[in-house]
Amino acid sequence: MASSTLELTGLNFNLTEEHLAVQEAARDFAQNDLLPGVIERDSEAKFPAEQVKKMGELGFLGMMVAPEYGGGGMDTVSYVIAMEEISKVDASCSVIMSVNNSLVCWGLETYGSEEQKQKYLTRLASGEIIGAFCLSEPEAGSDATSQTTTAFDQGDHYLLNGTKNWITNGNSSGVCLVMAQTDVEKKHKGINCLIVEKGQPGFVVGKKEDKMGIRASDTHSLMFTDVKVPKENRIGPEGFGFKFAMSTLNGGRIGIAAQALGIAAGAYELALKYSQERKSFGRRIFDHQAIQFKLAEMATRIEAARLLVYKAARLKDEGKDYVQAAAMAKLYASDVAMWATTEAVQVHGGYGYVKEFHVERLMRDAKITQIYEGTSEIQKLVIARELVK
Ligand code: CAA
Repeated sequence: MASSTLELTGLNFNLTEEHLAVQEAARDFAQNDLLPGVIERDSEAKFPAEQVKKMGELGFLGMMVAPEYGGGGMDTVSYVIAMEEISKVDASCSVIMSVNNSLVCWGLETYGSEEQKQKYLTRLASGEIIGAFCLSEPEAGSDATSQTTTAFDQGDHYLLNGTKNWITNGNSSGVCLVMAQTDVEKKHKGINCLIVEKGQPGFVVGKKEDKMGIRASDTHSLMFTDVKVPKENRIGPEGFGFKFAMSTLNGGRIGIAAQALGIAAGAYELALKYSQERKSFGRRIFDHQAIQFKLAEMATRIEAARLLVYKAARLKDEGKDYVQAAAMAKLYASDVAMWATTEAVQVHGGYGYVKEFHVERLMRDAKITQIYEGTSEIQKLVIARELVK
């Protein structure tokens, strides 16, 4: 099926042999290493430690990082290709991968000092450790400028205090990028991003969230009480933290858009297959027009989402402005994911409602793509602001 395999076709996306090799490698990994046990990991909310280790070995955790820092040196298009394939099968693994690649590694590589890259990026890119991105707080999700976590200047270090919420890789990460307010008077211009290592005195991993979807990824609150963070762990100049977060999230949204695309495409592929196996009223359910129309519409919307995701990735690779394109891709692909997974459950009927057939999990996983890395409402705000820039 054209729409299920990135044939992206017809259009000249200049896909190289390398892109196709990445797709094949990601697809093999998803089928051989992620599919077995995905239902159990979801049910038990079990962190996929083995699978994450293998993602590191295969180079999926630092895909865009330069080889000199231990990464794959690949482009964003390669990254979204891999994200789509992995998300078709296991969106818990793909969010772990996405946060590490596009929020943590990209942010560090783009804005970090040489010392920070040598010390942290090389380990993050290889998967020796994974990272977390800590912006959200109990009272600051969409309204991210309202940070209450503080990092007061103590001469050679900052004293970090506060709580971060809904942190992906919260327990499993070795390093966290933490946004905190240093100069309250300056509002968002007084925010810094600090690299905080796990195990520091005063750094406590709080409760694990019991989530609707992406249940195998670990989402925690993190608490900081008088944590001493050396000055050299600040990313960029004083007060750069909010710009750092916004700029990093622009690229992160391409990763989540690719995740949403993969969830939608995974559900569609399962529904298409099932429709050709299941019989009702004496024929395959695919032969009923009611089912054909669903599949036709799914294939069409998924292809449209894919074009937006690839457009945003391509703009980023070409060094062009991708803020609006990334927001559009995430807004649209996440809606397609929610809608297509719901339709896939419907195509499966009663079987769709039980875990064994995978689509109910994909439907639960889809919902978060409309929420994290900027809700759909925030994406609309970003898109609208760009319209009149
Ligand atoms: N790119 C670059 N800079 C941006 C930006 C963008 N997309 N959006 C805003 N900025 C800059 C502005 O230019 C401004 O800088 P200056 O003051 O220097 O001009 C600064 O940020 C503040 O912007 P605004 O004045 O527009 O602030 P606002 O409060 O009106 O709006 C917001 C800010 C866009 C709503 C922002 O708070 C936002 O994006 N919120 C959503 C936060 C989010 O995406 N959280 C995700 C959490 S991380 C996560 O989910 C990871 C995970 O675990 C999976």
